[in-house]
Amino acid sequence: MNPDNAVAKTDLPQILTLDSAVSLSEAVISAYQDNYYSFNTSPWFIDIDNRFRIFMYNGTRYIAKKARPDKAADEVEKSQNAHNFIDGEIVAGIKFKVIVPKIIAVDADTTYMISEYVGTDMNEMSSYRLVKPLLDAHGYVEIMQFLIKRGITHPGFLPRNIVENGDVMYLFDWEDATFDANLTPADFDRLWYTNFILNWSYLFSRDELESNINALISTSRFLTEPDLVRYERTFRDLIDFKGSTFEMRNLIEQVVFKAEMPVDDIKDESHLHPNDIGHLFADVYFSELDVLNDMSSSLLRTKNKLLYSAIVKLVTQIITLIRKNDLKNIDYYCMVVVLALLSPEDYSANHYESVANQKDLKDICAHLINLNQNSIISLFLTIKLQTTEIDALVRDAVIGATGFKPLENSSQIEKITVFISSLQKEKDE
Ligand SMILES: Nc1ncnc2c1ncn2[C@@H]1O[C@H](COP(=O)(O)OP(=O)(O)O)[C@@H](O)[C@H]1O
Ligand SMILES: [Mg+2]
Repeated sequence: MNPDNAVAKTDLPQILTLDSAVSLSEAVISAYQDNYYSFNTSPWFIDIDNRFRIFMYNGTRYIAKKARPDKAADEVEKSQNAHNFIDGEIVAGIKFKVIVPKIIAVDADTTYMISEYVGTDMNEMSSYRLVKPLLDAHGYVEIMQFLIKRGITHPGFLPRNIVENGDVMYLFDWEDATFDANLTPADFDRLWYTNFILNWSYLFSRDELESNINALISTSRFLTEPDLVRYERTFRDLIDFKGSTFEMRNLIEQVVFKAEMPVDDIKDESHLHPNDIGHLFADVYFSELDVLNDMSSSLLRTKNKLLYSAIVKLVTQIITLIRKNDLKNIDYYCMVVVLALLSPEDYSANHYESVANQKDLKDICAHLINLNQNSIISLFLTIKLQTTEIDALVRDAVIGATGFKPLENSSQIEKITVFISSLQKEKDE
């Protein structure tokens, strides 16, 4: 790719037009032959595995998502179900449209799910660009209740899976939904509730959301708690927790809320939001590191909000620069942020802010080393970080955030330690 294209990609999002293809299938396949038109303009959505494409074909804009055939079939089936249950219905003055992607099979391991691109998602519109949502908190909670009454549980009913356009609400990403017309009136389970409040709290205050939910829930009968999901099991194993699922969820909720709720002391809206940083790290790394990031963020936000905000600015700049570089070495550069969260006091907030002003990844690294040669980050960048040091840092973060001590021979801690240690040697220029 030439450098002019690199600039065009981020500054002037263009759209790939594939009118010469003889069919939509052919258009999709050719869209994936070039990296240039990957979906890379959203402030929050980072396509780590290079799965998405946006293109124009015969006057219509499409978005394609690469998936394993079984996963794609399952998601399409659920979307079709949702379509049958609620498409065209009107609630709170808003008309629902359910996006049902088409499947284009390529080979035994790959399919493309393709749908019409219906506009910018609500996470970008309302929490980054600050465009007023169509409804107030009450309206979205009412929609959630409507879905439940229809027998649909849709944990993916979150701003990132919604596009609002006129008085139409497009809903997609039904992969975690369940459908049961006989579902007796019931409400959220705890896991779902936490996720709902956390994600919508970027648009409305938590108090507002909770009071609306409390006013609307029909019987205050919660759905049966599902088994622990992978993130929660990893969390449990890291701290060797022996209590019930319910107690585990309560503890996780405290940590995750603290880690991922909105930052209120950064004035401009262009920084990456903590929940989106959490998503990004979950996509870049394995679940042990995902959990550890939440733990260390939660701890830092309790101890020193100012430092946390400065680190958020640093992540934002690092991600901006990595995007211009086609996400190359994203795991390496994000590790700088992971280590900043684990050892925040190696630098001052002013230090982090000045580093975040650097316009090049190399300068960011050089600056960090100059400011404190003995910092954990500097040791990492100069390939001098020892596993014993990493082990101690990780254990401190886990204890600090949860009050629980990992096992002496914790395999989760070892996995993290070995990974960080070997990553410092791996970066290819
Ligand atoms: N039909 C669509 N129209 C507009 N944007 C879409 C559409 N489908 C997906 N997107 C965008 O792509 C992002 C990821 O798509 P999604 O289907 O939610 O995948 P994932 O399973 O990775 O969450 C969405 O958050 C949204 O920004
Ligand atoms: Mg989604």
